[in-house]
Amino acid sequence: VPHITAEAHTAGFAAPDTHSPEQAEAFTARVKLIEEMENADAILIGAPMYNFSIPSTLKAWLDNVVLIGRTAMTEESKIKGTPVTVVASRGGSYAPGTPRAGFEYVQNYLEAVLRDMLEMDLGFIVPELTMAPSNPAMSELVPLFEASRDKALQDAAAKAKDVAQRVAA
Ligand SMILES: Cc1cc2nc3c(=O)[nH]c(=O)nc-3n(C[C@H](O)[C@H](O)[C@H](O)COP(=O)(O)O)c2cc1C
Repeated sequence: VPHITAEAHTAGFAAPDTHSPEQAEAFTARVKLIEEMENADAILIGAPMYNFSIPSTLKAWLDNVVLIGRTAMTEESKIKGTPVTVVASRGGSYAPGTPRAGFEYVQNYLEAVLRDMLEMDLGFIVPELTMAPSNPAMSELVPLFEASRDKALQDAAAKAKDVAQRVAA
């Protein structure tokens, strides 16, 4: 997904019949991504932590699909309540009580955008310490990594059942 452009951004705030050709083209591309999201029964997002936050590729997608008046801040939103599951993997641990807890800008950011702004039904699966097996400096953390991986797999199985039941209902 390309990064948002000035044309794509300003087109979101202007009536379609006033769009310049550049705005119209950019807006069509945004609407395609938005329609894909609106047609989804459930959404799964991989959000590995990159320098304490989400990858720029995921941010580019969010910048395209967050559209005030269509997906955000409107009663008419078709994505309100859609289940969205985020696998938030990370090489270290940012769990409450750990030294780097305050550096966690993946879950709190996605809560603000997906849950609070887009009003989706958000759940996380958080495999942490994933770099422990490959980083000798983290070797003593391997058992905690394994426990986190096992829990993530259990959480994934439970979430899959839960979402499948809801989608079928
Ligand atoms: C560019 C880059 C930056 C990263 N920054 C962090 C970081 O700030 N904190 C962290 O715990 N792990 C960091 N990692 C490690 C990844 O979060 C970790 O390897 C994760 O498991 C990758 O996701 P995946 O296992 O789903 O492929 C970084 C990895 C990359 C490639």
